[in-house]
Amino acid sequence: MTCTVIVGTQWGDEGKGKIVDLLTAESDTVVRYQGGNNAGHTVMYEDKTIVLHLIPSGILQGKESILGNGVVIEPNSLLDEIKGLINAGYNVENNLKISSQAHLVMPYHQIFDSLKEISKGDRKIGTTCRGIGPTYEDKVGRVGLRICDLNDKNLKVKLKEILERKKIEFELFNKFDIDYDINLENLYKNLKDFYNKIKNYIIDSSDRINDLIDENKNIIFEGAQGTFLDVDHGTYPYVTSSNTLAGAACVGSGIGPTKINRVIGITKAYTTRVGSGPFPTELKNQEGEYLRKVGNEFGATTGRPRRCGWFDSLLVKHAVRLNGITDIALTKLDVLDTLDHIKICTGYVLPNGELIDRFTYDGLEEAMPQYHVMPGWKTNTKGMTSKDQLPFNLLLYIEQIEWYIKANVSIISTGPKREETIIL
Ligand code: GDP
Ligand code: IMO
Ligand code: MG
Repeated sequence: MTCTVIVGTQWGDEGKGKIVDLLTAESDTVVRYQGGNNAGHTVMYEDKTIVLHLIPSGILQGKESILGNGVVIEPNSLLDEIKGLINAGYNVENNLKISSQAHLVMPYHQIFDSLKEISKGDRKIGTTCRGIGPTYEDKVGRVGLRICDLNDKNLKVKLKEILERKKIEFELFNKFDIDYDINLENLYKNLKDFYNKIKNYIIDSSDRINDLIDENKNIIFEGAQGTFLDVDHGTYPYVTSSNTLAGAACVGSGIGPTKINRVIGITKAYTTRVGSGPFPTELKNQEGEYLRKVGNEFGATTGRPRRCGWFDSLLVKHAVRLNGITDIALTKLDVLDTLDHIKICTGYVLPNGELIDRFTYDGLEEAMPQYHVMPGWKTNTKGMTSKDQLPFNLLLYIEQIEWYIKANVSIISTGPKREETIIL
């Protein structure tokens, strides 16, 4: 039995979808444990490109795929994803399972997400506007709606109370001429229709996952977002509204921490970020443009250009500790193939002149990165499948990264496709 957690070590979009899909071949079940359709996980194989926002990537390999209690589910997004997968020939009926305890993203959550962003002006978070933050706010505030509530005989009364309260909150808040047009009867009907479409997928997911563990099955826990978007340990307030760290796999799926055997940190060979917030190694120049263009760094969910910069070893070293990472999957090395020089950030100079070699939350906005400049390998490595093929300077780059972050690389990704991978 193995329970493997897949977690992003930077600000998301590290290539989690690709690695989950790859490892699913050897697994029985894949579980998503936090986040919602703010995620965009891309899987490429044969001539297919599939972006999944909610359903675990395991569905593409015909494996049992569970949306755990920690996930927040937007009904239309889930139905669209189910429909798209069924139309493309994937077996959703037998493989998708949904936790009865997962919370629902409601139309008012989406409205509030946009409203809050607009009201923040220059200090906006740059959210995906999918309603994720307001949904988790209601969950923690004990006024959320869960999948199991859809079958409650008092659903309409609950909805009425919620809508009345939300309307008052909205009027207090809305100075921006945004329409609040949520009709109780329509909402109730839509939710009932949604429930009827998904009721056969609903389970007690913690019970199921613990049964699988007892049966010695191999389970992958698919993280969304990345370490530095974690609401506790990320670059607050420029974070998402869930815990994204490996530890959240336990709470978000209902298993104990002693069951986790492996935590793979998915790490991009450079750094990207979508949305606002500090990013010490960001390149606001031609080099950044180059990474964005060659790496095709545009959001899989919103299409926004991703901010790009050099590899930050302080960031990833901290992620290794925060997540208890056992090994690293290093992705997108091929994007660096043509560069003369490649930089690794190995320290920050703080505004007071102090040079530090560990991540800091204090003064990160002004931290000046110090770099170790490495020679490029100037070789086309895209699609390589064996370590013997890799150029010397690329191996040197990996060795240096391993040394700085204090963790070993066990998987090298040399392209977006499933087979473009080297397992060390
Ligand atoms: P996720 O959110 O962590 O699953 O990552 P995304 O799917 O949002 O973004 C990663 C992007 O990089 C996707 O377009 C992948 O197809 C692509 N990708 C993954 N690994 C590699 C790689 O090794 N090389 C290249 N060139 N692209 C990759
Ligand atoms: P995957 O799983 C990258 C970012 C948003 C914003 C912040 C808060 O594909 O790696 P939210 O809508 O969650 O309230 O937005 O988090 N963000 C992501 N960035 N990849 C993601 O997911 C993200 N999900 C949220 O851009 O800065
Ligand atoms: Mg993504």
